[in-house]
Amino acid sequence: MVLVMQNDILTANRIHSILGNALNTIAEGKKEIFEIAESVRKECDIVNSKLVLLKSKIETIINELDILELEEKKARFELMRVSKNFNEFNEEHIKNAYENANNFRINLVLKRQEEKDLINRRNELEIRYRNLAKTLEKADGLGSKICTAIDYLNGNLEEIIDSIEDMDRKKYYGVKIIKAQERERKKIAREIHDGPAQSMANIVLKAELCEKLLYKDPNRAKDELGSLKSVVRGCLTDVRRIIYDLRPMSLDDLGLIPTIEKLKNRFSEETGIDVKFKILGEHEYINSIVQLSIFRVIQEALSNIIKHSKARNVEIILEYVNGCLNVAVKDDGIGFDIEHTGNEEDSNSGFGMLGMKERVELLSGQIKVESVPYKGTTISVSIPYLGKDEH
Ligand SMILES: Nc1ncnc2c1ncn2[C@@H]1O[C@H](COP(=O)(O)OP(=O)(O)OP(=O)(O)O)[C@@H](O)[C@H]1O
Ligand SMILES: [Mg+2]
Repeated sequence: MVLVMQNDILTANRIHSILGNALNTIAEGKKEIFEIAESVRKECDIVNSKLVLLKSKIETIINELDILELEEKKARFELMRVSKNFNEFNEEHIKNAYENANNFRINLVLKRQEEKDLINRRNELEIRYRNLAKTLEKADGLGSKICTAIDYLNGNLEEIIDSIEDMDRKKYYGVKIIKAQERERKKIAREIHDGPAQSMANIVLKAELCEKLLYKDPNRAKDELGSLKSVVRGCLTDVRRIIYDLRPMSLDDLGLIPTIEKLKNRFSEETGIDVKFKILGEHEYINSIVQLSIFRVIQEALSNIIKHSKARNVEIILEYVNGCLNVAVKDDGIGFDIEHTGNEEDSNSGFGMLGMKERVELLSGQIKVESVPYKGTTISVSIPYLGKDEH
């Protein structure tokens, strides 16, 4: 059992560490993507401010071109006018008009070239800006997808671990149930072997003896028949007790409280120990598994009282409270050392207490054992009632 649990815990731990590593790697990837996004964002800002500058330069150059075109036009007209009427102007004037017109033309060509270069540069920067913006959008999208994936995995990791632990628990309890069933069977086999089986062997011997004595010594035969009858009766009582222990029929027919009453009365008759039975709270419907478990707890507690306690008084208290059925069995016997009793490794110890604990825990209940030497023992159990019976 210990090995099974250890393996299961190892599996859960291993899955935990694998998923944990995967999460760390993804988280590192997320950091890198954020860094990439950050540097693209900076690049975008730089390109954008360059674009703004360039656009204002283009605007200025367009204005300058407008003025220059006007000036050039004027210079061209002047040259035309001077050329047409060259008799009216001296050589100096004509030369100046020509140079002026030529300079404006050259300046205009240069300015247009400059404008063209700036527009080309602006177009290039605009394309670059658009591409960077697209990359930034993708990096931001990827970053937030990774965040969602991490959140999802983080949430699911807990769920995955929970379900693994749940599976482990089921397996653990499954093995416990099988072990408990085997213990029960062994106990019943021992009881049949020591009780009815031996009595029946005795009955056969006695019947054979009666057969022999029937004609030889009818009076002894009669006595032997009488003793045979009492052995048969004892055997019948044993069989009835075993059947009762297997499943007290009255639990189905009469319900929990009358069955406890019957158990208590029989216990008092057989042992001479005084038993008080108190019921507290409003009676409610109790699932049959809970009924049976509570009954088994009382049965085992009483059996321990006969076997170990030397008690004179016993009290059984049954209480319905806050959706739980509580039961306490108190005795005023010799008590025992709780610390050193009832663990599985202790081969001298029986399984009664362990069985009680397993039963109660399987039903999500709680059990408390208190014992004070020479003062007595109290077993307290609290089990939530489960809704309707499942068949
Ligand atoms: N009411 C009690 N008074 C004194 N000692 C007790 C009482 N109940 C239990 N014990 C002690 O606790 C031990 C464990 O009890 P448990 O019911 O587990 O085993 P058992 O009664 O010895 O064997 P089994 O129940 O398997 O027939 C007992 O051996 C006994 O020493
Ligand atoms: Mg016992």
